[in-house]
Amino acid sequence: SVLSVNVWNEESSSKNLIPRLQKVKNNYQSMNKYNVTYKGRRNTTKLSPEKLLCQLRDRVNVTMIHGSDGPFNTSEWQKYLPEKNLSQEVGHFRQCAVVSSAGALKSSHLGPEIDTHDAVLRFNGAPTIGFQSDVGEKTTVRLVNSQLVTVKEQKFLTDILYNTGILIVWDPAPYHAEIHQWYRKPDYNFFANYKEYRTRHPKQPFYILNPKMQWELWDILQENSLEDIQPNPPSSGMLGIVIMMTLCDEVNIYEFLPSKRQTDICHYYQRYHDRACTMGAYHPLLFEKNLVKRVNQGQNELIYTHGKVTLPGFRNMHC
Ligand code: C5P
Repeated sequence: SVLSVNVWNEESSSKNLIPRLQKVKNNYQSMNKYNVTYKGRRNTTKLSPEKLLCQLRDRVNVTMIHGSDGPFNTSEWQKYLPEKNLSQEVGHFRQCAVVSSAGALKSSHLGPEIDTHDAVLRFNGAPTIGFQSDVGEKTTVRLVNSQLVTVKEQKFLTDILYNTGILIVWDPAPYHAEIHQWYRKPDYNFFANYKEYRTRHPKQPFYILNPKMQWELWDILQENSLEDIQPNPPSSGMLGIVIMMTLCDEVNIYEFLPSKRQTDICHYYQRYHDRACTMGAYHPLLFEKNLVKRVNQGQNELIYTHGKVTLPGFRNMHC
């Protein structure tokens, strides 16, 4: 049908990127900042959606740093880390929404649908105020990167945007590194600001994502791609999708796979244009989207009209 040509092609390769983004990808590959030494297999015959979902469930350990973990097991850190783990804190949700920050959310009128979910995940500095009709007003969890927490200009410590919902911060770690190794040399040293935020907002749950997860997920992305993917961690979007799969029976994802509103406008809340935001530059975003397309349980027409993908939660899967 006409529609099928207009939704994300799950066989997308770097040849589908504009030349500038192909060069950026090649540069990251020669840099190999995180010392990726991938020796796993490459699935030339495609796994079924069910098998792929089971790989995600069984191989990606989604955990938050706890006061009993490695270098964090000091009396100093006990004062700051949440006592309850994430699922003890929130219980479990039936239907969840993951809201990408894509420019394609503009004029989508998806807000009311997004707000019907039991929990809503948003990313980084994505606002709701002023954008409710397109993105809704509920925020249950906000996943932020360590750069946002660290860099002063981002106003993480003072902007009230961050005061609602449960916060989770993540930071890129070396490939399959021990927590100790990462702790000594984080990508962005967000630890001081994490402590400061916890002191200012002691009642708001605020977790540090265990960095193990990013490379367990990356290995699955690489295994199921036909070429070398960027040797950098998955995007916040992909990490957030898998986090919600651990907490929810069903996860609806909005504008991660672009709808008919696809645009080079990076974020729905800014004017900045860059095709890299949707297609990936630093992150292996193209390959994340291929994987999500392959495991989608919803209709292609809903990708086209709503940018909507439906995935099952891990507890609802039979492997
Ligand atoms: O830019 P930022 O990381 O804050 O956006 C959150 C996530 O939304 C990204 O990590 C990416 O997965 C997704 N995104 C997208 N297309 C865009 C912008 C963001 O897929 N144009």
